[in-house]
Amino acid sequence: MNVVLQHPLVAHRVTLMRDRNTPPKLFRELVNEITEFLAYEALREVNTKDVDVETPIAKTRGTLVDEHVVLVPILRAGMGMLDAMLHVLPYARVGVLGMQRNEETAEPIPYYAKVPPAKGGELAIVIDPMLATGGSACDAIAQLKKLGYSRIKFLNLIAAPEGIGKVEKEHPDVQVFTAARDERLNSHFYIVPGLGDAGDRIFGTL
Ligand code: PRP
Ligand code: URA
Repeated sequence: MNVVLQHPLVAHRVTLMRDRNTPPKLFRELVNEITEFLAYEALREVNTKDVDVETPIAKTRGTLVDEHVVLVPILRAGMGMLDAMLHVLPYARVGVLGMQRNEETAEPIPYYAKVPPAKGGELAIVIDPMLATGGSACDAIAQLKKLGYSRIKFLNLIAAPEGIGKVEKEHPDVQVFTAARDERLNSHFYIVPGLGDAGDRIFGTL
């Protein structure tokens, strides 16, 4: 299942983020803000528990999040979304997966993995700004399944139809939340119109 955020506050930020003249500092701020909107949408059905709470006026019942979350940024660009995710889920654990696309074939080359094995029932949230061919996302999800994760969501900023289709086909159980669904990939496997290389724009390495 694929959810595309439809909201003017998101569209506004995506437009600023696409702008080639947006400098890394502002780019990172926009990534943070959009990621919080994505988290808000993606975590609607998170597990909760009811608790007693005493306000200065009266006793009442309240709700607390009751979920074991493991955040999994795909290096390097996924790190740009991590602060925002930890802001809304401060008790989440973090595992990382290193993945680099082959520049000619776009095949993902895994180079690092440090993710805690699943104990059972945790929610794994993979974060990566770009979903292009879907190779990196599918590989990351497959690695998590091997580690025992069965509840997995994928959050990203800009997705190509090709990438969404690949995740839906290979991992139909994984929900994909995106801030914008773009037109297509170009011959170099970049998203059109996209925003260029997300890692370079986050880390100022253009
Ligand atoms: C980018 C992006 C994704 C991947 C998406 O990473 O952050 O991980 O490409 O492309 P795909 O859907 O075709 O796999 P990149 O390999 O450029 O590495 P970086 O994050 O280190 O810049
Ligand atoms: N990775 C990026 O950073 N941008 C794209 O358009 C495709 C893959």
